[in-house]
Order: sequence, then C-alpha cells, then structure tokens
Amino acid sequence: MVKIHFRLPNGELKTVEAQEGLSVLEVAHQNHIPLEGACEGSLACSTCHVILEDESVYNSLPSAKEDEEDMLDLAFGLTKTSRLGCQILVTKNLEGTVFIIPQENRNIS
Ligand code: FES
Repeated sequence: MVKIHFRLPNGELKTVEAQEGLSVLEVAHQNHIPLEGACEGSLACSTCHVILEDESVYNSLPSAKEDEEDMLDLAFGLTKTSRLGCQILVTKNLEGTVFIIPQENRNIS
C-alpha cells in the first residue's frame, strides 16, 4: 500500500492507504473523498481534476496524453501541476504525495 494525501476543498488533509495500480480517482472513491469523476475515467469530463502540490512529483508522472490535455484545458482553476485523477495510477513513487482537490468543478459532459 502507498500512503497518499488529499487536501480537501475545506482545507482538511486526509491520508489514505492506496493500492498500487488503482487510479487516484478510484482511491478517492474508496475513501469517500469528494472527487467527482463523472465519466468514470473515460476522459469525457474534467471533474476528476486534481492538483499536485509538489512539482517534482508532477514531473515524475508519465506525461498526459493529448485527450487528457484537451479535457484539462476545460477544467476550472487549471494550474501547471494539474492532472486528471482518473489518469494517474498509484505507484510507490507517489508515497507521501499531496493531491489538492480544487474548490470548484465544472462538469462539461
Ligand atoms: S473521470 Fe472523467 S476524465 Fe477522469
């Protein structure tokens, strides 16, 4: 298991044990973290938008595919370390990572 953290919109930090190979969206759902993921990971929404607190972790992730980039462009409050939670798979490399859940979401699907 890999320990990761979610910074909730209300500022609370939630620490969860994540199983390797699951997406960050799946881990959020398992732990009742309010990350929507309206399209269940099929790259048709941007409601699973998360922000990596640490830029070096962001840089170490496999880069986003074009489809993910296109959806991210529509995400509310896009930052330079934004990704879609359904496209990030948990690996040991994410141990201790903080994922910030943006304040507001805009569902365009
Ligand atoms: S859940 Fe829709 S793009 Fe991730």
